[in-house]
Amino acid sequence: MAGPIALISDLHSNLEALTAVFRDIDARRVSDVYCLGDIVGYGPEPEPVIDLVRSRCSMVLRGNHDDAVFAGAEDFNPIARQALETNREMIRPGLFKPAAKRARWNWLQSLEPSERRGDVLFVHGSPRDPVREYVMKSDVVFAPQKMEEIFQRLPRLGVFGHTHQPGVFVEGGGHATPEELGGRYVFGRQKAFINVGSVGQPRDGNVAACYALLHDDRIEWWRVPYDIAAVQAKIRRLKGIDDLCAERLVLGR
Ligand SMILES: [Fe+2]
Repeated sequence: MAGPIALISDLHSNLEALTAVFRDIDARRVSDVYCLGDIVGYGPEPEPVIDLVRSRCSMVLRGNHDDAVFAGAEDFNPIARQALETNREMIRPGLFKPAAKRARWNWLQSLEPSERRGDVLFVHGSPRDPVREYVMKSDVVFAPQKMEEIFQRLPRLGVFGHTHQPGVFVEGGGHATPEELGGRYVFGRQKAFINVGSVGQPRDGNVAACYALLHDDRIEWWRVPYDIAAVQAKIRRLKGIDDLCAERLVLGR
């Protein structure tokens, strides 16, 4: 029998977190690894993170940070924009740079915004705007029309990232976090829109890297501790990335 599919998202140039997550995934007999975008931005090592994703993932989608490398980061806050521009400078190809840089750059530019496999839609943000729209827990109460439109556009299931907050939205049933669910959600008859959390910059108060395993009948969230201090040291050595990007990793927000 084929194993589950591992879902990773929002790696944000954090090689320590991604390496730890792949070590965990490799111990679990998965059939594939899919990446839901935001490979770059915020963190110190875009190139090795891109290379690892290219070599290990059979589906890779475009996140808003990947997109901003080419489209510009004018709509980002100043700290996110500065980190993105530092990342772009690191990966940018050029006449006197190695050819591998051009291949990496072209690959990042070629990513699709969404994919559908069977009755599951895969996006970074939402079915309405797959690269940029945020779907937040507060939308259940404050934007019911938005949630209704999102569920209308979903086949039975959707998986996404972008907010860095793992959890599940159930059609007509509100939102629940992995903690509230005991780490897994068993699919019912209602449509579900599931956030797989963030590998490289969790924002749900838990500093461990987060990823998910998609089984036929359920999704499970897994947390993986990694060497946060090592990433922080790399960010601080770089300059060009604000210290808040290092600090937030130990705050989980
Ligand atoms: Fe992100």
